[in-house]
Amino acid sequence: MFIHNPVMVAQVLSYLSIESDDIVVDCTLGEGGHSSHFLQKVNKGTVLGIEQDAGILESAVSRLKEHRDTFIPVRDNFSNLKIIVSGKIGKKVDKIFFDLGVSMYHIKKSGRGFSFSKDEPLDMRLDLARSLKGMDVVNRFDQKKLAEIIWAYGEEKFSARISHLIIRERAQKPITTSIQLADIVKKGIPRKYWPKNIHPATKTFQAIRIFVNDEIEILEKALKDGIDSLKPGGRIGVISFHSLEDRIVKTVFRELNKGCICPADFPVCVCGKKRSLKVLTKKPLTPDEGEKNENPASRSARFRCAVKIQPVVKAAINREKEIA
Ligand SMILES: C[S@@+](CC[C@H](N)C(=O)[O-])C[C@H]1O[C@@H](n2cnc3c(N)ncnc32)[C@H](O)[C@@H]1O
Repeated sequence: MFIHNPVMVAQVLSYLSIESDDIVVDCTLGEGGHSSHFLQKVNKGTVLGIEQDAGILESAVSRLKEHRDTFIPVRDNFSNLKIIVSGKIGKKVDKIFFDLGVSMYHIKKSGRGFSFSKDEPLDMRLDLARSLKGMDVVNRFDQKKLAEIIWAYGEEKFSARISHLIIRERAQKPITTSIQLADIVKKGIPRKYWPKNIHPATKTFQAIRIFVNDEIEILEKALKDGIDSLKPGGRIGVISFHSLEDRIVKTVFRELNKGCICPADFPVCVCGKKRSLKVLTKKPLTPDEGEKNENPASRSARFRCAVKIQPVVKAAINREKEIA
């Protein structure tokens, strides 16, 4: 009944260290795979599950119905995290979790053109209230903009050739389905450069999906809002599947892991910067070989986790010291 296998569950549970009275915010509820594990642990607290896709949210609600006393589902975008937490919880929370990207539900069941192996309308929206679809991007944007998107969000070396072909093909006939786009991309990449383990259209599809759903632009602020919403001692865990996302997570964690940045010979701090995070994963954790073999979709997962700390100003020197 549920298509998506939650990834890296053991590592997520171990690093988030969930207690029975915790308030946990799952910012990417999906089919509720991770939240079902959180709810096993939380029997006196709350799991707040945020999901922008009404269809998948419905299946999570049905999956988690036995936890109706401890589970709060919300259909919204995690870019509104602070407003959602203050409206539904009204205080700081213990754990924040993100499992970024799309679910297997989207690829296999939604019928919205996320997969190049099925002929579906090229929609690619996670939230059907958005106006821009994948087919609008490929039929309306100029070649320069298309190449920029395919390069920036897909890191596709043949972005210029692919965008040139998109313009040429759409002059004959609008590009409205996933297979149509996949065939154009295949023509745009010389066969000797086709990747060995993935479909040649993977990167282009990923790029257009990320653009349509504004997945990268909102991430930095959402992470910072999440960290702001944590109690001291609270933890944030993030699974990403894309190098751009992982770079954003790493950069935000690093920035908040640093305190005063005044030169070492300044007697007092003038920058006012306080360390607010202690990173628990120096390098991102990855799934073990067993999980990768059992669930190939987990292959590119990267998990990072950090704990919020309470900055303390030391009066004599006025430089901060942190306690975790
Ligand atoms: C990888 S799946 C999560 C799977 C989930 N952890 C599970 O085990 O079932 C990511 C989910 O996050 C949702 N999502 C992605 N970006 C979002 C956003 N900005 N706001 C709310 N939901 C989002 C997607 O619609 C998708 O259902």
